[in-house]
Amino acid sequence: MSTATRQPGRSHARLTFFVCFMAALAGLLFGLDIGVIAGALPFLSSDLQSDNRQQEWIVSSMMFGAAVGAVAAGWMSAKRGRKFSLLISSVLFIIGSLWSALSPNVESIIIARILLGLAVGIASYTAPLYLSEIASESIRGSMISMYQLMITIGILAAYLSDTAFSYSGSWRWMLGVITIPAVLMFIGVLFLPGSPRWLAARGRYHEAQKVLNMLRSSSEQVRKELDEIHESLKIKQSGWALFKNNPNFRRAVFLGVLLQVMQQFTGINVIMYYAPKIFGIAGFASTTNQMWGTVIVGLVNVLATFIAIGLVDRWGRKPTLKLGFLVMALGMGVLGTLLHLGVDTDFRKYFSIVMLMLFIVGFAMSAGPLIWVLCSEIQPLKGRDFGITVSTATNWIANMIVGATFLTMLETLGNASTFWIYGALNVLFIVLTIMLIPETKNVSLEHIERNLMTGKLLREIGARD
Ligand code: BGC
Repeated sequence: MSTATRQPGRSHARLTFFVCFMAALAGLLFGLDIGVIAGALPFLSSDLQSDNRQQEWIVSSMMFGAAVGAVAAGWMSAKRGRKFSLLISSVLFIIGSLWSALSPNVESIIIARILLGLAVGIASYTAPLYLSEIASESIRGSMISMYQLMITIGILAAYLSDTAFSYSGSWRWMLGVITIPAVLMFIGVLFLPGSPRWLAARGRYHEAQKVLNMLRSSSEQVRKELDEIHESLKIKQSGWALFKNNPNFRRAVFLGVLLQVMQQFTGINVIMYYAPKIFGIAGFASTTNQMWGTVIVGLVNVLATFIAIGLVDRWGRKPTLKLGFLVMALGMGVLGTLLHLGVDTDFRKYFSIVMLMLFIVGFAMSAGPLIWVLCSEIQPLKGRDFGITVSTATNWIANMIVGATFLTMLETLGNASTFWIYGALNVLFIVLTIMLIPETKNVSLEHIERNLMTGKLLREIGARD
């Protein structure tokens, strides 16, 4: 049989599965590290006697590390390659997990969480990039939503493992057990092939071809893809220069920043990080109730992500986002009102949890995956690396602000007002979505780029004229 007509071999399928699995593991670790702190925090803070301020820093030091990691990853994955970056990330995952589990005091945990943050930041930039460069065209589109799904599964897995260890109260095991998937990731990444696009960008065409030969079913496909890579490499990345000189590109970078600020200020991570505490505020005093409630939050988050995967290409980005923000505004607003009235009856207690779940559904079906999808679609090719680095770093900085202020907000503004503020922000995001966010469904990236660079309004850069 000639190579051009070769059928998809089992080895191709197996290798592609392996490559996707490894990148997915990076998403899983991202989720595990986001989720693990919710269940560990109550035990850890009573054991180490940390006050609210210290708890906020234990939570948000990871996001600080992640912002730095995302910026470093932009540089590192260009200079040393995607595989190298993923290896560094997995080593940091291992060190950070062990370090946090063995920490004697709060300061030491904060340092460990910064290391974990670096790992998460590098993974959150590199894994989707690697996936999009290694996946064939036909599955590239669904990759980002699938990646978000892996994040949510990671969060759920962390909540489940936290709950299992909560019976013995061993927060050290909660944090330490993440070493196992981190070691798996390290071993797996060692066997990953380099990214063909990165190899070609370094002039290593022969190696790029070898990788594609392993992953694609026909040599015809390999040749076509290599040609495409060759073409796209003619466009040199010149993000910073473009940012200084081109106001249209600055608008795209601004839009990426705005999208990520909107995602984080929905208040999602208030719940992801402090769920047991919120269950406590809603009147569920027992630890077991709080821990299982948190597991349900994680499960709802996973399940509702499937709604987004179904809607994103049918309904489009904009209507899904508007509906999502509306649902989130409702969830936060009513929850605030119930807390204001007092959760002194069973009905109010359970109703406030229903509102919390409604909020999670609103996020997972919209802003969760969609913001990442939009951020990867709106940047022009020349400034892509720069634009995505800036928006990913923004995600983590905004994430840190939310994590670092929640307990202070509860203390100074009160429970009800804190949730009302997040409700009001979600109303504002409906308006911003109408005014500024483009619909990019079924539009080619080249078309979006042309519209942007010819000065069309941001909300119209997805228009097919
Ligand atoms: C966000 C994270 C969040 C997660 C929850 C992601 O899209 O960027 O901050 O914790 O969704 O599922």
